[in-house]
Amino acid sequence: MHQDKLWNEWHPVCKAEELQHDPKQVYVLGERVVIFRNEKGVHAFKDLCIHRGAALSLGKVVDGNLVCAYHAWEYNSEGTCVKIPALPCERPIPRKAKATVYHCQEYLGLIWVNLGDEPTPLITYPEYDKEGYRTIICGSYEVQANAPRIIENFIDVSHLMFVHEGMLGDADHAEIVDYNVEFIDGRFITSKIPVYQPNADGRSKGGYTDYVYEILSPTVARFTKTAEGSNEEFTILTVVNQEDHEQCRVFMLLTRNYDLDQPDEPFREFQDTIFYQDLDVVESQKPELLPLDLQAEMHLKSDALTIAYRRWLDELGIENGTIPKK
Ligand code: FES
Ligand code: CO
Repeated sequence: MHQDKLWNEWHPVCKAEELQHDPKQVYVLGERVVIFRNEKGVHAFKDLCIHRGAALSLGKVVDGNLVCAYHAWEYNSEGTCVKIPALPCERPIPRKAKATVYHCQEYLGLIWVNLGDEPTPLITYPEYDKEGYRTIICGSYEVQANAPRIIENFIDVSHLMFVHEGMLGDADHAEIVDYNVEFIDGRFITSKIPVYQPNADGRSKGGYTDYVYEILSPTVARFTKTAEGSNEEFTILTVVNQEDHEQCRVFMLLTRNYDLDQPDEPFREFQDTIFYQDLDVVESQKPELLPLDLQAEMHLKSDALTIAYRRWLDELGIENGTIPKK
């Protein structure tokens, strides 16, 4: 059941600021997971108490331990049960009294969970703490679709002129020049793809913009765009958590190296608008699972990046690009 390669990937489950004193329930690949924070950092367990199966996320964190709401068994950061109130004190705590522990990290202002025994390395995003750059987190957005459909929409350059017409593209400038896709250091990266944009980032500045797309993992992609003749860089990192078969949660990190003293809100509002334009399309796509058989749909040269993505998922053995149905 857990053979799917997404099992060993890192999944963003919430913004770091959403995890404070109380434990929180999240879903990853259909698994119910509890995350909590103590002085040692952030932790993730299967959201299930081994005593009677209550959700540990109903409990609370006391002195750094996660305490079940039902009979107050206490689990430490390693998932070991260190206190059972009903047990007479001369009796030892059974060794089996442990929570199932998953990998958990705080990174880029998000909490990431990995369910696998062989976790892949977490992606890197150097812009996040680069001097002169500012990052804001947009979302999270809930989408009733599969993660690869969402990633593919994000890396699809030829829809900008139609779904986002008047903002990210213009139907009279719909042709896409040939571009290269290379696989370097475990990631796909394109050459520059020029796109005419009437309003590239919400500031109503029109002109040609060069896009460079990268696919960092099956569920993480980014682009950086630079307006021609300018040093302004605008990057979006999109990270998707496949919560269950029907739903994903999407986080978008927007990084800019200009207008650092300007308010973030217009950038956020602009991105929300763009995202909801894409949402209708992505939720409408059939089949729901990205077809990895290239004969199943039609392709143009301008689809080179999405073709590379489909081939890669196939090579990785990510069957149909998603989790197996239970
Ligand atoms: Fe958790 Fe009993 S179910 S302590
Ligand atoms: Co779009």
